[in-house]
Amino acid sequence: MEPRPHPDPTPAARRRALLAEPPFGEVFTDHMVTARWTPDDGWGRAVLEPFAPLRMSPAAVGLHYGQSVFEGFKAYRRGPDRAVVFRPADHGRRLAASARRMAVPALPTDLFTAATEALVRADLDWIPEGDDRSLYLRPVVFADEPHLALRPARSYLFLLLAFPTGNFFTGGQRAVTVAVSEEYVRAAPGGTGAAKCGGNYAGSYLAQEEAARRGADQVVWLDAVERRYVEELGGMNLFFVHGEGDRAELVTPPLTGTILPGVTRDTLITLARDRGMRVSEAPVSLADWREGCARGRITEVFACGTAARVTSVGKVLTGDGAWTVGEGVPGPVAGRLSALLAAVHRGEEPDPHHWCHVV
Ligand code: COI
Repeated sequence: MEPRPHPDPTPAARRRALLAEPPFGEVFTDHMVTARWTPDDGWGRAVLEPFAPLRMSPAAVGLHYGQSVFEGFKAYRRGPDRAVVFRPADHGRRLAASARRMAVPALPTDLFTAATEALVRADLDWIPEGDDRSLYLRPVVFADEPHLALRPARSYLFLLLAFPTGNFFTGGQRAVTVAVSEEYVRAAPGGTGAAKCGGNYAGSYLAQEEAARRGADQVVWLDAVERRYVEELGGMNLFFVHGEGDRAELVTPPLTGTILPGVTRDTLITLARDRGMRVSEAPVSLADWREGCARGRITEVFACGTAARVTSVGKVLTGDGAWTVGEGVPGPVAGRLSALLAAVHRGEEPDPHHWCHVV
């Protein structure tokens, strides 16, 4: 890794003020890592350099045709000069899988890991203290070749950025409201739904705005074929809790190619199964969801993702009515899993799957 440290980093007092209430994705740390891919040399050396605007051609393929993939993962503080990065190798693997789908050259795992370690070490002071605080790491690989015929680009840029973050949803610990998109769909079979590519998110904005106008925090996507099965939210996976107490079971929609294979989704499945909880990956229809809540069979629903962590869903809005999930407040199963996950991040629970990568 070639280091080019920031000549004029953010003063400590200013940084501390920014860390007090970090808004999601608005204030970036002092550094970033860059690397370039060319057809002759493949991926070149990664450089740690000051966070700064890029200069690139207005004809870059990524701008016009969206040939771009990204990830989202987090580093947590473990004392004054140590941090852990959560499941970096799994995020590296998912970035490579998304890259394959979008005809982007995959980043070698050692480059991804070295970039992560270098950025977290350089900007360690940017990792906020506190249970719900972390440093969000955002790698992106996009086509920057100036070329507007339709073919995969012959030049790519990898960037790794970081920003301090607290809760993704504003308003503290609360159950969110979700609204079902009846008009639009996110992903069709054979499409790019399982890839973390920019277009999947841009394609969700209109539905997300409509959901927000109806008073919801997130849009619910249904399957594109039957418009019957629940897939995921605008930016997170979903879990349904059947039953209560020791008999509670989890159900989450299966990864059939139209859903993002969430790393937090996988983490929660594993944590729950490790503790003897039954978890099934099975289709859940919107009708099941409504009826399950009405009959008390579904006791909780929660969303999960790197950004959202574990967030209960309290209310569902559809074109022909609304319903409350449980009491409409954060549920105990979501609370337990969320606390367990935070304890793993803090090193207060064993980490048998070696998810925490110490930096
Ligand atoms: C994440 O959960 O990290 C995502 O990438 C989705 C988005 C809400 C930022």
